[in-house]
Amino acid sequence: MRVTICIGSACHLKGSREIITQLQGLVKENGLEGQVDLNGAFCSGNCVSGVCITLDGEVYSLKPEDTKEFFEKEITGRL
Ligand code: FES
Repeated sequence: MRVTICIGSACHLKGSREIITQLQGLVKENGLEGQVDLNGAFCSGNCVSGVCITLDGEVYSLKPEDTKEFFEKEITGRL
C-alpha cells in the first residue's frame, strides 16, 4: 500500500513531520515494511483541516493525535 504524507508548508505546520515519525514507528513495530510504502509529497491542494494523507489515491485529513487510530483502521485494516 502506498501512503503519501504531505510535507507542504501548511501541513508541516499542522504536524506532518510528527505523523511521519509515528507512522514509521508503527510500520516498523508491526513488521509491515514490505507492505506499507511511506512517501512524502508536496502540497496537493488539500490543506483544509488536518495533514493531507493519500492512501492508494484516496485523500484523508489527519491530525497527529489521531495517527495511531488511523493506522489501525485505515492501514492495517486494509492489508
Ligand atoms: S500543504 Fe499539504 S495539502 Fe497543502
